[in-house]
Amino acid sequence: MVAALKVGIAGLGTVGAEVVRLIETQARTLSARCGRNVRVTAVTARSKAKKRDLELADVAWAKTPLELAVDPEVDCFVELMGGAGEPALSAVEAALKAGKSVVTANKALLAKHGVRLAKLAEQKGGALNFEAAVGAAIPVVKTLREGLAATAIDRVYGILNGTCNYILTRMEQEGLSFDECLKDAQRLGYAEADPSFDIDGHDTAQKLAILASLAFGTRVAQSAVYVEGISSITPEDLRAASDLGYRVKLLGVAVRTAKGIEQRVHPTMVPKTSSIAQVMGVTNALTIDGTGIPPITLVGPGAGGAATASAVVADIADVARGIRAAPFGRPVERLQETAKAPMERHEGGYYIRLLARDHAGTAATIATRLAEQKISIESIVQRHPNGSSTTAVPAKAAPVPVILITYATHEDAVYRALSAVQRDKVISGRPQVIRIEKN
Ligand code: HSE
Repeated sequence: MVAALKVGIAGLGTVGAEVVRLIETQARTLSARCGRNVRVTAVTARSKAKKRDLELADVAWAKTPLELAVDPEVDCFVELMGGAGEPALSAVEAALKAGKSVVTANKALLAKHGVRLAKLAEQKGGALNFEAAVGAAIPVVKTLREGLAATAIDRVYGILNGTCNYILTRMEQEGLSFDECLKDAQRLGYAEADPSFDIDGHDTAQKLAILASLAFGTRVAQSAVYVEGISSITPEDLRAASDLGYRVKLLGVAVRTAKGIEQRVHPTMVPKTSSIAQVMGVTNALTIDGTGIPPITLVGPGAGGAATASAVVADIADVARGIRAAPFGRPVERLQETAKAPMERHEGGYYIRLLARDHAGTAATIATRLAEQKISIESIVQRHPNGSSTTAVPAKAAPVPVILITYATHEDAVYRALSAVQRDKVISGRPQVIRIEKN
């Protein structure tokens, strides 16, 4: 039998500890599937003294991640510390330079330095595997990189952040406030240490940059992703969306357009009938539209120790089997530069919620301003504070919410029309605008 694969793990937090356990409990299965044993030979973590409930008696402790990365007793360096900077960056670079294979769950590191690290892996012959960085246990990286190697991809879009989907689901189903739901997400351990990273869309943007690279051959770059978070979404938006046959999800979307690859993260209205709209709670999902085949939707756990460890150990198994795919699915020199999408040219349908002055002519003014921008209205609903709705604006005093759905138009036309409506003084406050993504 081939010699055991010697694994070194840097970082023994929730995921790291689960990886050690999984390699131990699945030892026979891994050995049978890989044709060789997989053994953890060395680890490192910030505190050696911390109680972890792990069997580490035969495992060496490295003083630093860097020491572990170049340890001759390590064939495969597993980076589970997180963060785009140190100590993860230098340790991963050192391991790759030493010709070792690297497995990481670090989306931030890949979104910032992915191209450079892939180049190093290519030059030195090691693998750089990162299935756990996106969608945890859902094999999205493998699906795009290997399963769909022969398929031209037109669009990938998905729910890539469990915290946001959990918040939006509970707000919709239980009518709870954004803050209450966020607190619960933190208590349950879904949210990042700094939850603004989740709710402002940056976590999704890093994951999307990785997926776009795999799908379209772009040079992975978080800076090329347009980002908007979910903090402006209100329970009223979720109710109105539901009445109109939609749900609001934080989507990451990468799509091929005539002007290039558009990468964007924002709250999105999706038809209730779509696969992605059925995905509730902390669950993640990715839909892939490939030329000539019906859409593929992958759904599953996108966060948590066990789900992330499942993907990390599968990546280690690939190293043990000797599988070396190009990290982003093609040689680094074939990856293309990409720029941030000019959202003013974005084309699609829009949900618009306005607080309209309740007097005769308001609806006509709004409709006129939209028509001037050649925006066609699919539906218009006025919601009374008591929750009922009509399709006409009555002649009474207090401001009332008016909700519009437009047919496909350009984003700059929407904002030009809304500026004109504001100048006409028939609405108060800032209009709420949510993009619609068709399936
Ligand atoms: N905070 C992330 C989420 C964890 O909520 O999905 C997984 O990246």
